[in-house]
Amino acid sequence: MYRPAQAVRAVAASVLLAVALSGCDGGVQGEPGGSGLRDPYFPKAGNGGYDVTHYGLTLGYEPAGRRLTGTAVITARATRDLSAFDLDLTGFEVRGVTVEGRDARFNRAGQELTVRPHDELRKGETFGVTVRYSGTPRTLTDADGSKEGWLPTSDGAVALGEPVGSMAWFPSNDHPSDKAAYDISVTVPGKLTAVSNGELKSVTVNGSRRTFHWHTAEPMASYLATVAIGDFQVSRYELENGTPVYVAVDPALAEASKPVLARLPEIMEWAEDNFGPYPFSSTGAIVDRVQGADYALETQNRPVFPSAPDTGTLVHELAHQWFGDSVTPKNWRDMWLNEAFATYAEWLWKEDNDGPSAQETFDAVYRGQGDNGMAVWDFPPARPSSAADISDAPVYDRGAMVLHKIRQKVGDDAFYDIVQGWAAAHRHGNASTADFTSYVEKKAPGKDFGEIWKDWLYGEGRPTSP
Ligand code: TRP
Ligand code: ZN
Repeated sequence: MYRPAQAVRAVAASVLLAVALSGCDGGVQGEPGGSGLRDPYFPKAGNGGYDVTHYGLTLGYEPAGRRLTGTAVITARATRDLSAFDLDLTGFEVRGVTVEGRDARFNRAGQELTVRPHDELRKGETFGVTVRYSGTPRTLTDADGSKEGWLPTSDGAVALGEPVGSMAWFPSNDHPSDKAAYDISVTVPGKLTAVSNGELKSVTVNGSRRTFHWHTAEPMASYLATVAIGDFQVSRYELENGTPVYVAVDPALAEASKPVLARLPEIMEWAEDNFGPYPFSSTGAIVDRVQGADYALETQNRPVFPSAPDTGTLVHELAHQWFGDSVTPKNWRDMWLNEAFATYAEWLWKEDNDGPSAQETFDAVYRGQGDNGMAVWDFPPARPSSAADISDAPVYDRGAMVLHKIRQKVGDDAFYDIVQGWAAAHRHGNASTADFTSYVEKKAPGKDFGEIWKDWLYGEGRPTSP
């Protein structure tokens, strides 16, 4: 194992001491896992040296005092020998950390919770970390001014985690590249309901409180985890193919949401026809008046809407279940892969439901007559200028234009093959822009996509012809 000379000298004494005390082999010593994954836009997000397989979150929340008490049991596999590793967590008082049942030392600096286990972890070893924490969760403000993290509502709260807000409610490897299964149990007072991802496994009553246990078996990125606490009107039913649906709506928004939510089964069926089999074991929606957040989010299984959704937004967030939630970007620069598909899904929905054709929508956007005018040309979809721009118009509309250019080049049959094949090839995984361009090229061997990539995906400014 390579180690610079200075570091060797610095650790030599402690190696000798450790060998003397424990009689261990002394040959290999772990190093800290690292405080970030060098994401091009969020370098501190996520951590090195391990891969999470399961999060077990046991949370209690009291809306009156805005106080959250949490125990996170994280199961992970070391990807190298580790003397220490980081989790991402912001706010809270950390009350204790154990690794494999033994008290671990920990330290906090910014969003990094550094854990130093009693015994070093060996590469390939599966280990359990328990973090006990409590306090008032924070609402975070992103580079673009939008709010995420923990967002209070009039009767509870909603957690939204894109791109880096999950660290405001549980300790995690907060980066889309590390997907895991989840069990989320939330205890809330009185008549309140706690809604989360996956399937509701149990509701247990304990005095004046109820605990809702939600299970997510399919891999989920941390930014897609959610919990919504409040007074909700809940409807549960099944799609024709048996997929369970769980919809929770703020009573004040019930009336206004009804006509659009009634179309959820129809939209799901349309999406399966177009994108292939639904990748998850349940679906639904959460509609709640979220203070300070005016955007919808494609939280896994059931997207969150901050007000009564319109049909286009419901189509968009459900399309994300295939593109974003099941096929997840490798890093935040690949964001356009999410938003291009979800936006193009809206264009396709209109085309299939008596609206303008996707070609007509494309032409209007090209002329600057789309919702975002000429802002569509601010930067190339695959190269947002900064972290503040990852949810701007080029990522959405111009990203959708890239997909439309591919469709023009290969024709409808091959295009739908590509769309469904892409969703299948990376189902429950991660993919990058380079993975996408090479996939398209492989599926249409006779075609030259060079100009589409150069002008539409990576090029600055408006291409000279539509
Ligand atoms: N992904 C959300 C949507 O399309 C929008 C969004 C919310 C977003 N928060 C974000 C995009 C943060 C990028 C970063 O439907
Ligand atoms: Zn979106």
